[in-house]
Amino acid sequence: MFSFKLNGKTVEISEVDPHTTVLSWLRHNGLTGSKEGCAEGECGACAVLLLRPDGNTSRFESVNGCLLLLPSLAGQEVWTVEGLETHGLHPVQTAMLQGGSQCGYCTPGFVVSMAAEYYRKERQGFDLEALSGNLCRCTGYRPIKDAAESLGKPDPNDPLAQRLTQPAPTPAPLN
Ligand code: FES
Ligand code: FES
Repeated sequence: MFSFKLNGKTVEISEVDPHTTVLSWLRHNGLTGSKEGCAEGECGACAVLLLRPDGNTSRFESVNGCLLLLPSLAGQEVWTVEGLETHGLHPVQTAMLQGGSQCGYCTPGFVVSMAAEYYRKERQGFDLEALSGNLCRCTGYRPIKDAAESLGKPDPNDPLAQRLTQPAPTPAPLN
C-alpha cells in the first residue's frame, strides 16, 4: 500500500499491478487529459508534472507518464493537465488557444511541459528546450513557439506558484 498526491489531493493505493504505468492508471481513473501517443517516451503526449526539491522550495519537472510506473510515485506529488485547470483555463492553455493546437492530441503534453518552464523561477523569456520532448504531427511548431514566447511571469497569487514556495515531499519507501 502506498499513497501520493495528485493535483493537491492524497490518493491511497491499496492494490495495483506493479507494472501499471502512471499514464494507464490516470486514464483508467478518469483523468484522460494525458494521452498515449507512442507509449515509449518519444512524443510527450503523456507528460505530467512531478514536484522536485529545489533547496527549501520546489520546482516542476515534466516527465513521461508512459515510462513511469505507478508505485514509483509513492510519497511524491504529481500534477496533471486537469490540475492546471482547477481555477479555469491556465495561462499556458490560453496562449495555446491562439493557433497552437489543431487535432489537439499533443496539446495536453505541450501544456504540461510549457507549464514546467512557465513556473521555473529563474526563467527569462522562454527556453524552448523545455519542449524538446514533445512532438506535434499537425500544427507545426511555429504557433506553439509563439504561444510559449508570449507567456509572461506567473501571478504571485497563482496557486501553483504558491505551491512551489513550499518544499517538495520526500518520497516514501514502499511497504
Ligand atoms: S506516450 Fe509518447 S512519450 Fe509517452
Ligand atoms: S495538434 Fe495534432 S498532433 Fe499536435
